[in-house]
Amino acid sequence: MTRFKSFKSHPATQLVIAAIRRYVMAFGMAIIPLSCLRVLLLRSCGVRVGKGCYIGFNVICDTNYAELITIGDHVTISHHTAIYVHTESPAESPLSALYKQVRPVTIENGAWIGAGCIVLPGVTIAQDCMVGAGSVVAKSTEPSSLYAGNPCKKIKTLSLGLHSNT
Ligand SMILES: CC(C)(COP(=O)(O)OP(=O)(O)OC[C@H]1O[C@@H](n2cnc3c(N)ncnc32)[C@H](O)[C@@H]1OP(=O)(O)O)[C@@H](O)C(=O)NCCC(=O)NCCS
Repeated sequence: MTRFKSFKSHPATQLVIAAIRRYVMAFGMAIIPLSCLRVLLLRSCGVRVGKGCYIGFNVICDTNYAELITIGDHVTISHHTAIYVHTESPAESPLSALYKQVRPVTIENGAWIGAGCIVLPGVTIAQDCMVGAGSVVAKSTEPSSLYAGNPCKKIKTLSLGLHSNT
């Protein structure tokens, strides 16, 4: 058992696990027809996903540290959005020594990320926050607000009232 544990925690083994996850996720998220099955795929790759979520086609979650991505309840992540938790490169260079960071991403209950967004390491997308299509989310957001653009900025506060589902 101990031997198996140390095998699993070996850096080379982790790279292989990440590569398999990357392949399975990229392929699966492109062809699996139902959101509920795409949710299962994300969970099986290590992403924490709450209940009642909609996950679009070709949503990609960072497979190197999938466990650091937390998606709350009733979250929508539209097609072609990518969520990254690491800034690291296996290529040895001055840049890869300078930029070496792993930071978790949290998407809180009721948030909706539009199609084709990029969510960067360390970001928390707050409860009931809407992120417009094609945005790059570099900083954490406030709840019940619309953000859009690259880098995305707050556009307005949303009055959700009774329409909020969380
Ligand atoms: C954000 C969105 C919902 C519009 O919300 P809205 O409350 O109607 O906002 P408005 O259209 O009034 O836009 C408000 C401002 O934000 C800007 N804006 C809206 N969406 C934007 C986006 N995705 N990127 C950049 N700016 C955007 C508008 O140009 C406008 O700017 P202005 O005030 O300078 O004119 C819509 O633009 C959007 O991105 N929808 C997501 C589509 C999608 O992903 N579909 C897949 C579904 S699974």
